[in-house]
Amino acid sequence: MRVAVVGATGLVGSTMLQILAERNFPLTELIPVASERSVGNKVSFNGKEYSVVTADTAIAMKPQLAIFSAGGSVSLELAPKFAEIGCYVVDNSSAWRMHPEKKLIVPEVNGYMLQKHDYIIANPNCSTIQMVMVLKPLHDKYGVKRVVVSTYQSVTGTGQKAVQELLDERAGGKGHGVYPHPIDLNVIPHIDVFQDNGYTKEEMKMVLETCKIMGDDSIKVTATTVRVPVMGGHSESVNVEMKNDFDESEVKELLSNMSGVVVIDNPAEKAYPMPIYAAGKDEVFVGRIRRDYSQPNTLNCWIVADNLRKGAATNAVQIAKYLHAQGWI
Ligand SMILES: NC(=O)c1ccc[n+]([C@@H]2O[C@H](COP(=O)([O-])OP(=O)(O)OC[C@H]3O[C@@H](n4cnc5c(N)ncnc54)[C@H](OP(=O)(O)O)[C@@H]3O)[C@@H](O)[C@H]2O)c1
Repeated sequence: MRVAVVGATGLVGSTMLQILAERNFPLTELIPVASERSVGNKVSFNGKEYSVVTADTAIAMKPQLAIFSAGGSVSLELAPKFAEIGCYVVDNSSAWRMHPEKKLIVPEVNGYMLQKHDYIIANPNCSTIQMVMVLKPLHDKYGVKRVVVSTYQSVTGTGQKAVQELLDERAGGKGHGVYPHPIDLNVIPHIDVFQDNGYTKEEMKMVLETCKIMGDDSIKVTATTVRVPVMGGHSESVNVEMKNDFDESEVKELLSNMSGVVVIDNPAEKAYPMPIYAAGKDEVFVGRIRRDYSQPNTLNCWIVADNLRKGAATNAVQIAKYLHAQGWI
């Protein structure tokens, strides 16, 4: 199987290569793609070096699968060109997520929706993926009515330049304007661009993508998304109002039984999820699970995951593995 990784030199792309290798993805030929400026550069995969090529060269090599993480405009332009030659595309950008004919997939939540003719498949936003992994078992059992989420998002969510910006500021440098304000020693309540309704695009992604993935437009979501000077992963404080009442120990059991979710919740031992420990792991971690006494049927929790892994590359590779398991690639 020939597999193109578009954006192979980026933060998500290089994590993708790592995960394809870790999970023994059955590829026979890797085709790393990046921008013109990286053509000829080497990336390593499974102990071998591969030369970066252009998208046109990759298409001419007729891959069966292309995993994209090169930004929305690149996906909008190139994904249909790969799909046209019968190549399945799993796209990490926001370009196709809300397209009415494209599926938005978190395998543990709605992987069953995929069909053979789905040649362009969207990977959700990183903050949304980790939240729906926790909401899904709650929704199935109690019915989720409303979600209030505040995020604490890692600089790795903005890509390679943002990580460098934080390191440079920490070393006493001035930064290069990746963010509109300094990020070290600061928190910035602004991710992606502001919309006319006063919310940012990142906040609206969480609202819209949650309903689409859960297959239920009646779920009300309101979000505040915040960038913090952290590298290991995204954290979220999530308040969930449900239709029916719950038992806290049953909630912990439901979440423990959800594939890909790990409950870390032992206040006596000061045990709760944190990005420094989630870094490099594929699971979504949840803790601080407790009743919200201010209104009925409402739960508070704290969700952490490595945004480059389950929030992006791991989820994409899981989708690819599903396509392979069905015999479509
Ligand atoms: N970071 C996250 O947590 C996260 C999570 C979910 C989704 N995503 C999405 O994944 C994408 C990449 O994010 P990232 O954090 O990996 O960014 P990044 O570190 O800046 O990497 C961007 C990649 O895209 C490549 N690229 C740029 N223009 C291209 C073009 N015209 N043709 C082909 N390749 C091109 C770059 O190649 P060069 O090296 O040649 O410039 C690089 O490999 C974005 O759409 C982002 O929204 C990111």
